[in-house]
Amino acid sequence: MSAFNEERVLSVHHWTDRLFTFTTTRDQSLRFSNGHFTMIGLRVEGKPLLRAYSIVSPNYEEHLEFLSIKVPNGPLTSRLQHIQVGDTIIVGRKPTGTLLIDYLLPGKRLYLFSTGTGLAPFMSIIRDPETYEKFEKVILVHGVRQVDELAYHDLLTKNLPEHEFLGEMIQSQLLYYPTVTRENYRNRGRITELIQSGKMFDDLDLPMLDPIHDRVMICGSPAMLRDLKHMLEGMRFKEGNTTTPGDFVIERAFADQ
Ligand code: A2P
Repeated sequence: MSAFNEERVLSVHHWTDRLFTFTTTRDQSLRFSNGHFTMIGLRVEGKPLLRAYSIVSPNYEEHLEFLSIKVPNGPLTSRLQHIQVGDTIIVGRKPTGTLLIDYLLPGKRLYLFSTGTGLAPFMSIIRDPETYEKFEKVILVHGVRQVDELAYHDLLTKNLPEHEFLGEMIQSQLLYYPTVTRENYRNRGRITELIQSGKMFDDLDLPMLDPIHDRVMICGSPAMLRDLKHMLEGMRFKEGNTTTPGDFVIERAFADQ
């Protein structure tokens, strides 16, 4: 059997000239956990050109959704940004990754720290009912440069709280904290600064991060991962992985090619 499925593009939405989303059909045999990534791409001159992408859609949905940036000279995204409804995408049959609630020790609160397309795996995790069974509060933090890069803002603030099955959990347990660095906005500054100054916790009316009660997932650029990992380790958080659960887990936001 091939390592890939061929899927059809069902919708494309451009958030900005740097960021877009698309949905595809999903092979019935494709299984994944919320938070996983898989290889996706296009056939270029007959050969598969693939990159790792976190799956935005939760694993009970019939379709797949992905969030991507557009890099003018990026081998894949310079082509992928032009996809249209009906086009074919190749999707790897073996999703994997470390951003799974199973790789975290039990805790009270779950912090999801993301920048840019690092939001993608968390969109799946915050739509998983199990997340709300395991944690009392789930705090989704998304840092971007400009306001219009706050992808899924309306889904998070308007649609999901009204969702038929998830609405109640989202309303009572999910806190969404968007922050912008290069434009005026109600929350301003890098996630790292907002943690260090304590402003994020004041705004959310929560205590400072603490490895006894808090668990953390991080997804963003290599620099953001490095800085946040360093900060958490300084607070005595222990990193988990696919074999040993910990207080935090990290993964790079892949879609930067
Ligand atoms: P800044 O505007 O100060 O660079 P990008 O689009 O480059 O991936 O950035 C997404 C967001 O992540 C931006 O708000 C950016 O802030 C922020 N960012 C970049 N590097 C770091 C870092 N090391 N720690 C925390 N946030 C970061």
